[in-house]
Amino acid sequence: MDTTPPPTVPGSQSRWEEAFLRFESPEEEQEKFRKRLRRLGCDSWPRDARVVDIFCGRGQNLVVLEQLGFRNLEGVDLSANLLNRYRGPARMIEADCRDLPFPPSSRDVIVVQGGLHHLPNLGQDLPRTLDSVAATLKPGGLFVMVEPWRTPFLTFVHAISRQKAARRLWSKLDAFEILYEEEHQTYDAWLDASADILRLLDQRFESRMRDIGWGKIHFVGTPRKAA
Ligand SMILES: C[S@@+](CC[C@H](N)C(=O)[O-])C[C@H]1O[C@@H](n2cnc3c(N)ncnc32)[C@H](O)[C@@H]1O
Repeated sequence: MDTTPPPTVPGSQSRWEEAFLRFESPEEEQEKFRKRLRRLGCDSWPRDARVVDIFCGRGQNLVVLEQLGFRNLEGVDLSANLLNRYRGPARMIEADCRDLPFPPSSRDVIVVQGGLHHLPNLGQDLPRTLDSVAATLKPGGLFVMVEPWRTPFLTFVHAISRQKAARRLWSKLDAFEILYEEEHQTYDAWLDASADILRLLDQRFESRMRDIGWGKIHFVGTPRKAA
């Protein structure tokens, strides 16, 4: 579950933000991103690689990438409000990730941690975004993705977090369920589309890593050469 408040949920921002603040501290979130990046192989990426974090929100992933020694960082998000919360050396760009604002074959690594499942019209928006990512990466560049995935663990967590007694006992679980309630339309559409998502990824990227477990997919791929 992502923990940055979506900027365009009229009337529900405060409920989302309140749950968000309870769910995870910035330090916990950074530790989570650090562990994921290591699992995805970031220790072997050159520190001068041009790395773009898409759907970057307030830039927590960029903070971690900087701590890990990466020097050429950029973040892209639609929300100026979230981009403005970032403090650090990355170049922050207000733009639509469905049409990335970079020259073709110009970036080494494009990372997304919990952004694609916010796309409102998945059937059109996901192929468009993945096309834009594949076009922006240099040959041999890396697309690195962590997104929610329907696994028995995730189904179990949601079943538990709907129990009022459990939610009263464990505030984090209650926050998790509120975050879900606030973003469930795009989140459920994403979870229901797993076969299509894997097909779209496979059409555009040669898989280097595809791990599914504990409610997440970890994917790393390189763009397929144009036919
Ligand atoms: C839950 S946040 C994830 C933020 C970040 N990846 C993280 O984990 O901290 C989802 C982000 O996607 C952004 N977003 C949604 N649709 C977008 C689009 N089409 N282009 C760029 N950003 C978008 C939102 O503004 C929001 O910041």
